[in-house]
Amino acid sequence: MSVISVVGGQWGDEGKGKIVDVLSVDVELVARYQGGANAGHTVYLGEEKFVLHQIPSGILREDCICVLGNGMVIDPEGLVEEINQIAEKNISVDGRLVIAHNAHIVTPIHKAIDSHREESLDKPIGTTGKGIGPTYVDKFNRTGIRGTDLLNLNKLEKKLNSRLDDAIKNCEISIDLKQDLEIKIKNYLTVISKISNFVGNVYEIIQSHLDNSQKMLIEGAQGTLLDIDHGTYPFVTSSSPSTGGISSGLGLPLHKIGRHIGIFKAYCTRVGEGPFPTELFDETGEELRKIGQEFGATTGRPRRCGWFDLLAAKFSVHVNGLTEIALTKLDILDNFDEIKICTGYKINGKEMSSYSASMCDLENVEPIYTSFPGWKVSTVGFHHLENLPGKAKDYIRYLEEKLGIPIKIISTGPARDQIIEG
Ligand code: GDP
Ligand code: IMO
Ligand code: MG
Repeated sequence: MSVISVVGGQWGDEGKGKIVDVLSVDVELVARYQGGANAGHTVYLGEEKFVLHQIPSGILREDCICVLGNGMVIDPEGLVEEINQIAEKNISVDGRLVIAHNAHIVTPIHKAIDSHREESLDKPIGTTGKGIGPTYVDKFNRTGIRGTDLLNLNKLEKKLNSRLDDAIKNCEISIDLKQDLEIKIKNYLTVISKISNFVGNVYEIIQSHLDNSQKMLIEGAQGTLLDIDHGTYPFVTSSSPSTGGISSGLGLPLHKIGRHIGIFKAYCTRVGEGPFPTELFDETGEELRKIGQEFGATTGRPRRCGWFDLLAAKFSVHVNGLTEIALTKLDILDNFDEIKICTGYKINGKEMSSYSASMCDLENVEPIYTSFPGWKVSTVGFHHLENLPGKAKDYIRYLEEKLGIPIKIISTGPARDQIIEG
């Protein structure tokens, strides 16, 4: 089958952008199905760094069509900025970018609600502030603004003003913000015409690619443990990053997808609040952050770092129906004397059987670790599995055996060619 999905297996930032870029070499279409500008997918073309937030990473391949699916929440201002940024690097989206007419649209009002809510919560989520949650709330409340609304500016302006009134009436934002938001709405309306011509019929594009067996890649954003249903609720995003979201978020039946690739970092990171059983608060965590340059691609926040969590990863393999794994950032572990994998959980001294059994009490988990000796040589840029140090191979084989699916791709650096493909 010619359709492959690429999804985050952990808490996001696993390196999806890089892996989608590598796999999109001969692909006709790359589609996003959920999330929005909360994503930050980093891709290097030589020395040139791209951080893509809404546009699928396939845009860096000349002939690739890029689809923003109906399950996404699109930020028009962010999108225009992104289009301009890649245009500066001589990459054009003309004729290659399609926004689903039924995708929902983020407005300055949603961003203001997002910030207001975070400020008023006793335990904030640590959102990216991109208006993601409030836009999905409107979608499910059946009051949202959609791609199709970008085609009629007069109607859109009315909808925006009425949404602003409601936001104030319902105390979703402070009345003090009214004037500022009125100005923001005026500016917002001026950028809409720059993207409204991208609104199109995604159903037809997807179906015709399926009918003609053309190669498609589905690019997940965020990660399974941030999934609204399967993640560490309420410290999650408001969409379905797991493979289940693909079907509704693109109108693409799951059985048409031949391979589901889960991206996992060789360790774990998380940005924002919420439980993280293997988080390290010591020097080792600091070292992982420093060597791995673990700072958010969207907000610049330091990412929390910890060891690989086998129980959470196994859950992710099952929930997504993963057929294989791409393991990234192996090179970041090169200099550690000892590398650990969390192979069990204890809560109040009692050993837990699985991640799912512990899901509602994750903050009280005490991880049980299995220790591995570090390989202490550089793996940066390695291309062949057989050339990896034996101890690195042992680490990979252990994960593979315990997760029960093959690790077919190993990433050994941020660049396109720093990869082992098996
Ligand atoms: P995404 O959101 O899943 O696409 O991941 P991000 O782009 O937010 O974060 C991954 C970071 O790791 C980016 O800075 C990548 O350039 C970098 N990266 C990806 N794979 C590797 C790798 O194998 N080794 C190293 N050193 N960096 C990597
Ligand atoms: P990529 O695609 C890592 C996190 C936020 C916060 C929670 C909810 O680059 O992997 P939101 O703004 O979505 O309402 O925030 O989700 N989050 C991410 N963490 N990578 C991401 O995307 C993320 N997108 C959202 O930090 O904890
Ligand atoms: Mg990211």
